Amino acid sequence: MYSEALRESRRYEQIAAKKIKETDRPLFHLTPYTGWMNDPNGFCFYGGKYHMFYQYNPYASHWDTMHWGHAVSSDLLNWEFLPTALAPDEVYDQNGCFSGSAITLPDGRHLLMYTGVSVYHTPDGSKRDIQAQCIAVGDGVDYEKYEGNPVIASDKIPDGDSIYDFRDPKLWKGNDGKYYCAVGNRPKDGSGQILLYRSEDGYKWDYFSTLIKNNNRYGKMWECPDFFEIDGKWMLLTSPQDMLANEFEYHNGNGTLCVIGSFDEKTGKLIEECNQAIDYGIDFYAPQTVLTEDGRRIMIGWMQNWDACAIREPEALWAGQMSLPRELSLKDGKLIQKPVRELESLRGEKVSYDSVPVSDVIKLKGIEGRCADIEVNIRPEDADNVFHKFAVWFAENDSFRTSVSFRPHEKTVKIDRKFSGSRRAIVHQRRCLIPDSENGCIKLRIILDRYSAEIFINDGEKVMTSLIYTDIGADGISFFCDGEALIDVVKYELFR
Ligand code: FRU
Repeated sequence: MYSEALRESRRYEQIAAKKIKETDRPLFHLTPYTGWMNDPNGFCFYGGKYHMFYQYNPYASHWDTMHWGHAVSSDLLNWEFLPTALAPDEVYDQNGCFSGSAITLPDGRHLLMYTGVSVYHTPDGSKRDIQAQCIAVGDGVDYEKYEGNPVIASDKIPDGDSIYDFRDPKLWKGNDGKYYCAVGNRPKDGSGQILLYRSEDGYKWDYFSTLIKNNNRYGKMWECPDFFEIDGKWMLLTSPQDMLANEFEYHNGNGTLCVIGSFDEKTGKLIEECNQAIDYGIDFYAPQTVLTEDGRRIMIGWMQNWDACAIREPEALWAGQMSLPRELSLKDGKLIQKPVRELESLRGEKVSYDSVPVSDVIKLKGIEGRCADIEVNIRPEDADNVFHKFAVWFAENDSFRTSVSFRPHEKTVKIDRKFSGSRRAIVHQRRCLIPDSENGCIKLRIILDRYSAEIFINDGEKVMTSLIYTDIGADGISFFCDGEALIDVVKYELFR
């Protein structure tokens, strides 16, 4: 039943993974079994467990012909690796099994839909990669590719839209009992759009609508769509390539975009009301969500960015991490993200301080570590004399430190990993705007896990995510203020 490519990947990963020490991985962020990981795929709850598949090259710590890696978890934090789920072993996916998603069929079997990349001989005699949607059905461990693949190919793309950029299907079951699927695509104008397909059974698909067009507003191609209802609205998450920077909202290169509006289920159109970035840090891309049994919409992104992959040295035995799972909601028409509540089960020793004055640099006894959940409430000592800069420094020793700094007069928060031990000239800083923060009051929740920092600002109104591959011995934390601030700090050690 298994192809040579799948058997080889399953054999290789088991041997290679043994060389990776548990302590060289993050404590609770998912990393590849071995080799390279990018986008989350097929994020779902199936057979009593959360399943996370991922874009995977088991053979090296760089991107190459894509497989689907696989892991399961009961709490979204402790992950167990399962064998490779998909390998590129058919003519229609010989150049890779790209991103996709999963649903459960009425008979209890698990259906994966992914983008098969194959070789197309163009009319002018050259060769190009072409993309089509394929399915594989299985039991949560082993999957069999459908003999009718691909199920959505070029003949189902509206005339004039790209047959080369057509990828990353996200499936869901509609209120009408039909299956829906959103796919990233490019119209003639070269920018992005999301196509919707519909099916009665999950196997036979028809074009339904063009959900939304980019019209060259936010980057070019829109990758990895996810589309769902939340708090009375509909939300599209997508990851545009080739973004231009726009003030503090959107940064250059590969970015993230959240479009909020309503969904006309008759015409299949998203009626856009507003949009925003999803994460304002450096390393976050291609997020996918799952609806939990208790009704929470949880998102996990690839905690990395294509433009900054050089942060990881090529000799590394694994490369790529998934972000912390985040609970999504809407408040005043804006996306709110909070660390998944299960994180509280990893909390160990608690250290807390109230109203500590900070002027210049201070350290607080018991506030240190590289696996920690830290909440810092910051306010000026004198409301009429607000400091210019407040900073938390972490992953710090005599040689290194990463900082999150708050400048109330600019209303910005900045993450800066220049001194995190990186030897590459990639992006190391990013800023975001925090409206109404000129009074010097802000709340930061900082989640550290060995090689990353995720900063949740003002109860999840903005999030900034950044990888840091700083020597693990650098575990100091300090607080800095160029004026006078008061802080409350609550810190939990995180452990497993
Ligand atoms: C996004 C992406 C997807 C594609 C996959 C390939 O990061 O480019 O569009 O399916 O990665 O690995």
